[in-house]
Formats: sequence, structure tokens, C-alpha cells
Amino acid sequence: MDAFVIEGGKPISGRFEVHGSKNAALPMLAAALLTDESLELSDVPRLEDIANMLRLLGELGVEVNEQPGKSRGGRTVQTQVTDTSLSHARYDIVRTMRAGVCVLGPMLARRGEARISMPGGCAIGPRPIDLHLKGLAALGASISLANGDVVAKAPEGGLRGATVFLGGPFGSTVLGTANIMSAATLARGRTVIESAACEPEVVDLGRLLQTMGAKISGLGTPRIVVDGVEQLGGARRRVMPDRIEAGTYAMAAAITKGELTIANWPVDALIGPFEMLRDAGVEIELSEHDPLDTTGGDSIRSTAFVRRTGSLRPVELTTQPFPGFPTDLQAQALALLTLASGNSIITEKIFPERFLHVAELLRMGAHVIRHGPTAVVSGVPKLVGAPVMASDLRASAGLVLAGLAARGRTVVRRVYHLDRGYQRMDEYLTGLGADIQRISEKTLEEVAVPA
Ligand code: EPU
Repeated sequence: MDAFVIEGGKPISGRFEVHGSKNAALPMLAAALLTDESLELSDVPRLEDIANMLRLLGELGVEVNEQPGKSRGGRTVQTQVTDTSLSHARYDIVRTMRAGVCVLGPMLARRGEARISMPGGCAIGPRPIDLHLKGLAALGASISLANGDVVAKAPEGGLRGATVFLGGPFGSTVLGTANIMSAATLARGRTVIESAACEPEVVDLGRLLQTMGAKISGLGTPRIVVDGVEQLGGARRRVMPDRIEAGTYAMAAAITKGELTIANWPVDALIGPFEMLRDAGVEIELSEHDPLDTTGGDSIRSTAFVRRTGSLRPVELTTQPFPGFPTDLQAQALALLTLASGNSIITEKIFPERFLHVAELLRMGAHVIRHGPTAVVSGVPKLVGAPVMASDLRASAGLVLAGLAARGRTVVRRVYHLDRGYQRMDEYLTGLGADIQRISEKTLEEVAVPA
């Protein structure tokens, strides 16, 4: 296991190009199971979660080829189904990557059967899949549990369209919508998904499915209508930019009083964080015309200039389904607001338990009081470096940001969480002026306790 050793206090400045989105790429890769033809996805990020998804697809009879991509750090992934007799997504893989659940819909629709290890909870709280199963059952699937696996079987004659309501206690479900929409593309008749997730990653998946020949309308709205077709063909698509990576780097510039140009910024997908940063006193401007842009530019991609010169203002922030402020940027925003001049209030409405970063930030001098799903953050003039433990992907990012701004040395342990969702973050941040070293935790112990 690796740790980051961060010497704080160095402003982040320069130019960063956002990679393709992890959370868009994962269900898009799973869509490979829906067709016998080849799928080609560009701007697929190099991340642990993606590596696990490719491994899972390999186990499910999909041949995967990779080529270096045009943009920095991305790659193009080509998939081709070669064996349709396999249908078991094993515990070993799903345990390491919950998003493995998004093979469920495609496998069931195309192969008539899917067996997938039931994903457990994780550090951000319970992660049930009842809405996924309810949706698939509405399409006619029989669902049972065997040995910790969910076993789903399509009825004689295949899945059939139906009206499916995906609203749950915390809003809709992103991967649940991806699963039902994918399965419905090959079902007989019309499926109406009510209370569908409106997240940009679901729209990106829907656009890919449309290119493959699926008949889908209502993408980006709470009602998605899918008219089933006989079969889907191959397609090519460039994965959308990662809005969470973009937001995290913007906050890195903001927390260190830096100045960063962020290319491949997904404008429409980042409205909530954009507003929040401005409210907090961060200067942020968008430009359609970045002369250095190598990404080919399209309407969702822009370049953001992020800068902070003055002090941070406190804000009131609630995480919500899109287009609200994303839960995946809550830990980073909370880290930023520990340095605001006043009290901020952060309410987590998607994963109410997602506050493991708070206890670690207290060790760095932050003042945060938590009441259930709400954290009151009283800004302090400075954070001080400390050894801290990463607990999940986004909490780790929050701790790294705090470490960048803190006085002295911060050691963030268990950064394998970070590697699941941020491409070589230590190297990119170092290139932007940070002082970060990646070392193995074993080395850390040897340094801390000399023999
Ligand atoms: N929920 C249910 N029942 C279900 C499914 C979800 O009650 O069957 C609840 C969840 O417990 C949660 C809420 O509904 O309270 C929303 O969960 P959702 O299903 O939307 O989450 P997800 O699809 O499993 C994706 C992202 C997460 C992101 C959430 C919310 C991927 C691979 N994961 O998860 O990303 O936080 O949507 O936007 O797309 C991350 O990247 O760090 C990450 C955790």
C-alpha cells in the first residue's frame, strides 16, 4: 500500500487537462455486452476501477484491445464479444469495484441470464441495489439470491417493456438507471423509466446506446422512454470529461491560492460546483476558445480559469441529484471550506454517512461539528499537517487538498482509494507545483520507527 507525503503551502498553478470520466466509462464499457459488434471508446481513463471492469468483461467473454489515445493520459478501448456462454460476475471482482453491478442489465438482456455477486456496503454507507432489482423484475426477470449472488433470469421470449419507477429514499439511482435503460434497449415493446437519474454520465451512456441503434428519448430528464429493438450494432464514442476530477483540481487551486487553467472542462455538468466556487469567492471563468486545447472541443467542453486571491467566504451547500451539487465533490468542498472566514453548512442528501473525512480533518486543525447528515464547518485561519487515513475515494481527495494547503507535512495513508478514481494525481499535482511524494507504507513505518 502507498501513502502520499505532502509538504503543504505551495500554490497549485499551471494547466491541467481533464481525463475521460470514470463513472461514464464504466457503464459504457458494460454496454459492450449488448452487441456482437465492436465498440470503440476513446478517452477511457487509466484507473484501477476501469482495469477491474476490463478484467470483469474479459471473464464474461469480451475481448478487449487498448491503444494509446490522442489526448494526454487517455486511451482508446475496443471491445468485441467472443463468448456468450459466460454470465457470472464473481465476488472477487465486484468486491473491489461496486460498479461491476452495471453488467447486470446488459447480460440479462443479451444472454437471458446474469449471476452477479451482491455488492456489499462500503465506507460511504450502505449501498443497496434494490431499485436495480425492482426495475429488472418489472421487465419480467425472475430474481433470486444464491450463495451471495444475485441470479437474474429473463422470461421465455426475453425481457418485455414496462413502466418502472426508480425513485428511492435518496432520489433516483445512477447505476440503476444505467442498468434498466441498457436492459430495456433489447426488451420487447416500450419501457418508461420514471424518476430516472438525470446525471450527465447517464446521458453519455444513452448517447452511446443511441449510436448503437437503441431508441431512447428523454435523456437528461426524469422520464426516459426506451423502445426495444431486435439487436444493437457497434459504435464509437468519446467518453465525456470527468466532472469530479475537474471540480477536484479547481478546488486544489482554490485551497492553495493558486491559479489553474483547466482544459476539457465539462461546462454543463459542473453548474452546481461552478456556482459554489464563485459563492466562496473563487474567481472562475470559462472560455470557449483555448488556443492550447488539443481535445478537439465540442459544446460540452470548455476551458476554465480558476484563481483565488482573496479570502474564502463560507457557503451553505447541499448535495443533491444532478444538477444539484454532487456528493462526489462534498469531501473536497468541505476541506476547502475549513479555511473560509466564517461558518459553512454542508448537508449530504445522497449518502448521509459520507463524512469519514471529518475526523481526519479535525486532526489537521479543522473545526467541524457533525449532526447526522449535516456538518457545520467553522473556518480556521490555517490547517496544520498531520498523518491521516484515507477511507474512500473522494474522502482521500479531500485529505490531499487539505494537505496541499496545510502548514508542514501531511501523510495520507491508503491512497489506493485515490488511485481507483484519479489518474496519477501525485504526478499531476507535482507538475503543477505541489510537493508530493508517493512512498510505500512499509517505508513509512521504517522511517517512523527506526530499528
Ligand atoms: N440507492 C438505493 N437503492 C438502490 C440504489 C441506490 O436506496 O437500489 C440509494 C443509495 O444508497 C444512495 C442513493 O440511492 O443513497 C444514490 O445511489 P446511486 O445508486 O445513484 O449510486 P451509484 O449509482 O451506486 C454512482 C456513482 C457514485 C456516486 C453516486 C451518486 C458510479 C460508478 N458511481 O453510484 O460515485 O456517488 O452515483 O451520484 O457511477 C464515486 O465516484 O466516488 C462514487 C461513489
